Amino acid sequence: MPNPLDVLPVADGIGLPWDVAVDDAVAAIAAAREHCGESFVVNSGGEQYLFTFSPTGVESFYALVEEAASKGVADFLMLRRKLPEEVFAGRRLLPNSLFRRDDVTSYLANLDRALDATEIELGESGTVDLFALTRRLGHRMGLASWAGPGCADGEAFERLVRAFDVLDGSDAFVHPDAMAAVAASGMRAERAALDEVAEVIEASLQQHDSTPENGDQLFSRIVSAWAMESPDVRSRGVAMDVALIHIASMSNLMAALGWALVDLIAHPDQLRLVAGGDRELASSCALESTRLAQRSIMARAVLEPVTFDTGAGVVDVPKGWTIATLLPLLNTSAAAGLEEWNPSRWHRHRLADAHALPSPMLVTAFGHGRHSCPAQPFSLAAMAMAMTRLVGRYDMRPEWTGHPRPVPAQIGGVARAADPCPLGYTVR
Ligand code: HEM
Repeated sequence: MPNPLDVLPVADGIGLPWDVAVDDAVAAIAAAREHCGESFVVNSGGEQYLFTFSPTGVESFYALVEEAASKGVADFLMLRRKLPEEVFAGRRLLPNSLFRRDDVTSYLANLDRALDATEIELGESGTVDLFALTRRLGHRMGLASWAGPGCADGEAFERLVRAFDVLDGSDAFVHPDAMAAVAASGMRAERAALDEVAEVIEASLQQHDSTPENGDQLFSRIVSAWAMESPDVRSRGVAMDVALIHIASMSNLMAALGWALVDLIAHPDQLRLVAGGDRELASSCALESTRLAQRSIMARAVLEPVTFDTGAGVVDVPKGWTIATLLPLLNTSAAAGLEEWNPSRWHRHRLADAHALPSPMLVTAFGHGRHSCPAQPFSLAAMAMAMTRLVGRYDMRPEWTGHPRPVPAQIGGVARAADPCPLGYTVR
């Protein structure tokens, strides 16, 4: 089979935002696609990327096996630009072990309590930044779910919020242009934030040890995984497991909730029904807003040569390359009408008219195939719960001047808002 360079066009003069300054990373790849067609090569920072957007190319992408073309390695290569090695090395409980059935029930109970705390903080009326509100809510729910006793309240909570805002791994793809400065500093701020997390979790661990039956299920599982270690190794190991889980979990969910609220507030008919408690509609709205807010680069790092059908021909992709596609260039354009917000296009978690697409894999909010998101049911249930509670309790008035827009340099994850999004609210 030919090498991709022998048969595919190379997009001249574009680089990816973590290598060169790019104003709008998604627009740059869109322009390359316009020029080169549905599959092409990008050379960036000395690395080769095969981008594909054809129906066959995208289906081949989702069929890649982890051993040959790895999502885990591609994610790691991206996240290590922002996070110290220590966060990844030697982890015992990983983010993909978070979704046993009982776990989800306990996370949703924690979300309910986090919403109680949010209502107390908001009071009767005021103005709040919408994405700051959803982010704080996510911290509180997540830390109550896996960081051990005392971590979702008071000073311990505030310290962890500050530390995790520094550690936000999604910066690697939301602000890829800022990664050179992170590297130049030797990740000083990130290392200090990890020490802060370790200190707070150590206090929580002491509390857990004195009352081990306190029912923090996931935290107890993490603690058990480190039971045989010396006190220092145990304490640091538990803290780093909590850190990676929290960093992985907070990156998309609460940004998606922010966009779901932005869209819902702009659609009074659906807003009225969701405010009346219609969770099923809220879940479809959340899915639809997440589809539209997707900025994900889906990437696989090639670990051994793979045969790959781009739709225009079959190539042998060499080891060391990355194969990628970009959801924002598919989700809103794979068929007519996809640029509009329309929650009724979803039947539970599937597109009602997927057969109208050249391939059902061209549109997604949570991915397809073996790597699709294990947190999808939980994330949609959590967003639906938060939406019904918040719009049920408050009349919300957007106070933003222009419609919220994504950070232009972002490539990866769910869009983060480029500008402040002030939201006025009054108890109904
Ligand atoms: C609205 C919120 C979320 C969205 C839109 C989302 C989206 C996605 C997508 C598109 C993928 C597939 C990526 C690929 O194929 O390259 C994925 C995978 C994954 N997600 Fe999510 N996600 C969300 C929330 C979460 C949460 C809360 C967690 C909790 C830790 C999570 C954990 C994971 C994991 C572990 C994978 C990798 C699965 C694997 O490789 O087998 N996600 N997610």
